[in-house]
Amino acid sequence: MAKPEVLTNVVDFGDNPYLIGPHEPIREELDTPELECIGEIPKDFSGIYLRNGPNQRHAPYGLHHWFDGDGMIHSAEFKDGKVSYRNKWIKTKSLAEESEEGRSIWPGLMDAPNRDLKTSWGSDLWLKDNSNTDITIHAGKAITTFYQCGEAYQLDPVTLNTLGSIDLESQGARLMSAHCMNDESNGDLLFFDYAVKPPYMTYGVINKESQLVNFTPIELPGARLPHSMAFTPNYSILMDLPMFWDPELLDKDLHKVSFYPEMQSRFGILNRMASGDTIRWFDADPCYIYHIINSWEEENEVILDVCRMSSPVPSQEVRQKLSGPYGTMLAWLKLDACYHRYRFNLETGETKEERKEDLLSEFPVINNRYGGLPSRYSYHVTLADTDVILFDAVVKMDSLTGTSQKFKFPEGCFGSEMQFAPRHNSNAEDDGYLISFVTNMESMKGEIQIFPAEDLSKGPICRLIVPQQIPPGFHSSFVLPENL
Ligand SMILES: [Fe+2]
Repeated sequence: MAKPEVLTNVVDFGDNPYLIGPHEPIREELDTPELECIGEIPKDFSGIYLRNGPNQRHAPYGLHHWFDGDGMIHSAEFKDGKVSYRNKWIKTKSLAEESEEGRSIWPGLMDAPNRDLKTSWGSDLWLKDNSNTDITIHAGKAITTFYQCGEAYQLDPVTLNTLGSIDLESQGARLMSAHCMNDESNGDLLFFDYAVKPPYMTYGVINKESQLVNFTPIELPGARLPHSMAFTPNYSILMDLPMFWDPELLDKDLHKVSFYPEMQSRFGILNRMASGDTIRWFDADPCYIYHIINSWEEENEVILDVCRMSSPVPSQEVRQKLSGPYGTMLAWLKLDACYHRYRFNLETGETKEERKEDLLSEFPVINNRYGGLPSRYSYHVTLADTDVILFDAVVKMDSLTGTSQKFKFPEGCFGSEMQFAPRHNSNAEDDGYLISFVTNMESMKGEIQIFPAEDLSKGPICRLIVPQQIPPGFHSSFVLPENL
């Protein structure tokens, strides 16, 4: 059994805005079965809410980007009306090596590559695999991943102990990007990775018995930076979007992300178990997409709902406001995305697209039982008007009526990507609860908040106070007891 860590040495994180204030890393791993409770914990749901995010352990190697921090999982386990809180670093190979040496070894996104290192990860193989981006449930285990492509770490979803990583290499696969997708209907794990050398993308399927049952290269015109993928019962959807590393600079080992608005966005649709050369590409207006809401089939069409950025490059005004060594990072992390729907006609090859909602929102989730199936509701966060990313409100969107419900957190409180927890024997898409961790800068303690999914605007029906702060993070997952 892995011992909980309590780090006593103090690290000077300098003035990096993603290492101070609400984003200051915590130093202790806790396993807390008793929590102060404001309100009443509903007894008619159970499962575990898990959230990944950066929690840097050592003094930064260089400038340090928010995406560079060591992955830490926070969890809230709901059982018989009781809640336990736990948090643990993901014991990645790179963190083990850095802990052995007591210092950061790998450069970060804003640093120059160190090509002398024996092992590195990422699409250009120079980054540290911190596994801090995403968490997905597959075959009873939590899978954590890194957005720039790394190993797929397996964790015990209850204890949060790191068990190892999926051996992709010996099965002929490469790395795995964040946003691998678990199809709850049959237990398939769908994944992709991307690289700066051909094949620029690969796609694969691991079945519920943990066997790699499809693995295939996807031909692209050059190196790309896709962030996520989608699926329906029959198809997988991959993205070739016109925001990627400047190819000329990349040849000189320089990594500068550029947006090419003269290029089209392309969405590739292939049968789940098919070879990559059968993929069909659908053109659409230029944009960048971090996150998929859901996708499904309707007669001859594949529907894809996303949070879409029409102009992913920071404006001149934002660039001027955010100067200094961290200005570029701060400016590029302005996520001005809106709910957008694509319709890809498999018969005619035509794409239709429309903005569904003008409200800026991100980190969308749905009732996971509807993954790949027609869905109506999605649950998002909105971004505070602050230099660093903080989520100041939670929103429920109804794509059928075009209406939304919103709950704004009190001053100094910021949410996380939520998860939908279905009520026992639930009989409607929104019959359940929404769970979020909250960073409370007034009390300096984290919270687990439970919202009624039917009416999110009512605010939390229960707040559980965690003995330590929970910094904001990236992606989350909810595992039902029957999937453990
Ligand atoms: Fe993401």
